[in-house]
Amino acid sequence: MRKPIIAGNWKMYKTISQAIELANGLKRELYKIDSQDIDIVLCPPFTALTEVGEVIYGSNLQLGAQDLHWEDEGAFTGEVSGLFLKDVGVKYVIIGHSERRQFFGETNASVNKKIKAALRNGLVPIVCVGENLKEREENKTFDVIRDHIENGLKDISQEDAFKLVIAYEPVWAIGTGKTATPSQAQEAQKFIRDLLSKMYNNSVAQDIRIQYGGSVKPENIAELIKQPDIDGALVGGASLKVDSFSAIVKNTLGAE
Ligand code: PGA
Repeated sequence: MRKPIIAGNWKMYKTISQAIELANGLKRELYKIDSQDIDIVLCPPFTALTEVGEVIYGSNLQLGAQDLHWEDEGAFTGEVSGLFLKDVGVKYVIIGHSERRQFFGETNASVNKKIKAALRNGLVPIVCVGENLKEREENKTFDVIRDHIENGLKDISQEDAFKLVIAYEPVWAIGTGKTATPSQAQEAQKFIRDLLSKMYNNSVAQDIRIQYGGSVKPENIAELIKQPDIDGALVGGASLKVDSFSAIVKNTLGAE
């Protein structure tokens, strides 16, 4: 049985004081939830990691970051490494989000180096894959996913593959209010699991958690999480408010 994982990607939102307020609100709203039943991850901007980490320390909420550099240190102006994330108590890191691929030139090659850097620093990579609208309309969904998975995970050993979380995020569903239907998401996520089984083996494929991401809301999470290959969600917009994010967490558990 895979443990569900709900992660909030706060993107470039929340000043430090706003982030503290949101984290405190979530802590209050979700304190009854047993961390044995679900992983709940908050991914604030870099500037608020320390403070959010302090608020959630010792609670059932865990800290994640939105990106990292592939080197541990060096002359890379403006970048933040896995070593530094570890230093502020980060446990998870989002890698290869479509916004990074689209606006910041992220490629499968950089994703691959970043996954290795995260693993080297003991961080859990949340690796994002998924097709855009044009690719879906041209029936290239599975080709794109295969490309992202095979090349993103190149040379990642079986032992390390167990540690990954994958997030399937169809780009056309991100921030658009258009969710993939549960069966569209399930179809893609089963494809990913089958691919992992071919690349590694069935036990790796059965262990890796695959999140769905793209306009996840309290109203649609229950149907999504019921699908056999959907093990959680990567949530953008709805992670910015206490009510909606905590309802997503609760509805995930309620639907099981
Ligand atoms: P969204 O974002 O929930 O606002 O669609 C998801 C994501 O970008 O991870």
